[in-house]
Amino acid sequence: MKKIGVLFGMENTFPGALVERINGMKVSGVTAEFVQIADVRMAAPCGYDVIVDRISHDIPFYRAYLKNAALGGTRIINNPFWWSADDKFFNYALATKLGVAIPPTVLLPHKEHPTGTTERSVRNLKYPLDWDSIFEYVGFPAFLKPFDGGGWRDVYKVNTPEEFFSAYDQTRTLCMTLQRGVNFKEYFRCYVVGQEHVHIMPYDPRAPFHERYVADPPAYAPELLARVQRDCRTLCQALGYDLNTVEFAVEDGVPYAIDFMNPAPDADLHSVGQANFDWIVNTVAELAVRRATEPGSGSTYRWDSLLKGAP
Ligand SMILES: Nc1ncnc2c1ncn2[C@@H]1O[C@H](COP(=O)(O)OP(=O)(O)O)[C@@H](O)[C@H]1O
Ligand SMILES: [Mg+2]
Repeated sequence: MKKIGVLFGMENTFPGALVERINGMKVSGVTAEFVQIADVRMAAPCGYDVIVDRISHDIPFYRAYLKNAALGGTRIINNPFWWSADDKFFNYALATKLGVAIPPTVLLPHKEHPTGTTERSVRNLKYPLDWDSIFEYVGFPAFLKPFDGGGWRDVYKVNTPEEFFSAYDQTRTLCMTLQRGVNFKEYFRCYVVGQEHVHIMPYDPRAPFHERYVADPPAYAPELLARVQRDCRTLCQALGYDLNTVEFAVEDGVPYAIDFMNPAPDADLHSVGQANFDWIVNTVAELAVRRATEPGSGSTYRWDSLLKGAP
């Protein structure tokens, strides 16, 4: 029997619906359940063929458990090795190389020295920074946001150098990026599953939280939607994520990708709505079953092949 497990945190609607959907598909020899963890022994198989991971970014113990499980041949959605290695600034740079439109973005040194370090630890940094040149490259308005953030935490919109400095002063030891603000007309949040299936959700980040997923979207130019679909696949294939959301802010018909490192994207029924929820539950269920039933490539126990993920 092939076993699919769902590992999750505080969310309530998606994990149960996913387990129910997979079992409801009645694929012979495949069953799904919530992951159960007892003792975790090195190099021991975890008992699951596939794990859908929704929470290891918040629980280091789970991340370590998943890496150990991968050694035993478990396919993990998403690959914990790559997820551990990734950051948003690298993603912006990679996307630029791939021809996806990204607003000009810079990486900034920590405002306060990371715990346990002093100014002696950062003597390689040129000080003071040439802020005029940075502001000229990025432009205003701009967004100051963490290089590994999520859920709008520590995101600041700044319109002037003064506003920038007062926001930067509040960022403690976080590693931040500064990115040109896109003056967008359209905004899309897209689910991407299996690095292939794209579900475009018109989204209004300026609306109150419960009204953000636009119920009656206008008709969009087919070329725009085609480009969004293509960029979604390009990004997720390059990043290796089997489940991700990619957010685009569209200015003058150009979709700028601004947020696409979301390997445990919000999939709560009450925020995304029934139709989006049904799509994500069905598509992830099909992917998990596919991963559970396709032949594995066999692990070579090398960091580079683990990063690559299976198959
Ligand atoms: N470059 C940008 N241009 C316009 N709006 C932005 C930009 N960057 C962030 N935002 C706004 O801030 C919100 C949160 O930023 P985002 O990059 O999505 O981080 P998070 O991972 O926290 O969701 C976005 O949904 C968008 O409304
Ligand atoms: Mg976002």
